[in-house]
Amino acid sequence: MATSTLFDLHGKDAIVTGAGSGLGRAIAEGLAAHGARVLVTDLNEQGAKETADRIQHSGGTATPLRVDITVESDVEQMVEQAMAMFGKIDIAFNVPGINIRKPVLEMEPEEYQRIFDVNLHGIFRCARTVGRVMVAQRAGSMVNVSSVMGSVVVPKNVPYCVSKGGVTQLTRGLAVEWAPYNVRVNALAPGYMRTPLIRQVLEDPSWLADLERRTPMGRLGNPEEIIGPAVFLASDASSYVTGTILFVDGGWTAW
Ligand SMILES: NC(=O)c1ccc[n+]([C@@H]2O[C@H](COP(=O)([O-])OP(=O)(O)OC[C@H]3O[C@@H](n4cnc5c(N)ncnc54)[C@H](O)[C@@H]3O)[C@@H](O)[C@H]2O)c1
Repeated sequence: MATSTLFDLHGKDAIVTGAGSGLGRAIAEGLAAHGARVLVTDLNEQGAKETADRIQHSGGTATPLRVDITVESDVEQMVEQAMAMFGKIDIAFNVPGINIRKPVLEMEPEEYQRIFDVNLHGIFRCARTVGRVMVAQRAGSMVNVSSVMGSVVVPKNVPYCVSKGGVTQLTRGLAVEWAPYNVRVNALAPGYMRTPLIRQVLEDPSWLADLERRTPMGRLGNPEEIIGPAVFLASDASSYVTGTILFVDGGWTAW
């Protein structure tokens, strides 16, 4: 393996869910910029289309598809489409996540159920459906997006933290089950990154200042800062890395 091409993704085919916004969009663009062909999927069809357009305008290869990861048939069709287009799936990023910030005792059952449906059951569904293909082909790199909140907690975010703890453990479990089949499974665990998911925080100057003070690097992350870690985990540069939770958090969890 040539060390100069460790991060090269030419000839690799990828699925990114939740790629219509924020970190998923940055990941899809980053994979494409390194040479991968990307199936860009999101619940928000317009968002997926915009991401695919941005990739194509930069000279990359991308196809948009509307996929709701809470719907089994959507996820199955996504994998069928990837196989019809590519004939294989080398890389899969399972990204979508939602949050509703309020104390547990004020939360409606439909609210915490929705968080678990997307953040945990949706990611599980994507992982299992894509994993079937990767295990059969005896190759693949899967990356789930967890969070620092999979390891530490923040008040008024409890169902989100529980769901992300589940994604972290799911990642480790799948890594161990699928390692014999040459399928690697890792997670990215971002800290606070400037995306629409944390609009509530970004629009509240005192909340934002608190978070900046709490972060050793003294600032929130920008979405593009997920690209390097994502390409590392997707590529041969991480060929002996599996079951790892890679924090991208400006030092948050080291504090
Ligand atoms: N931004 C942060 O500070 C931060 C920190 C830690 C972890 N994360 C995680 O990163 C991931 C991406 O978040 P983001 O910040 O880019 O948020 P975002 O809101 O910008 O993007 C999330 C995307 O997921 C899509 N989505 C939501 N439900 C879906 C569903 N059922 N099926 C398919 N797509 C769906 C949305 O349409 C949206 O395009 C999430 O898992 C989130 O929990 C984000």
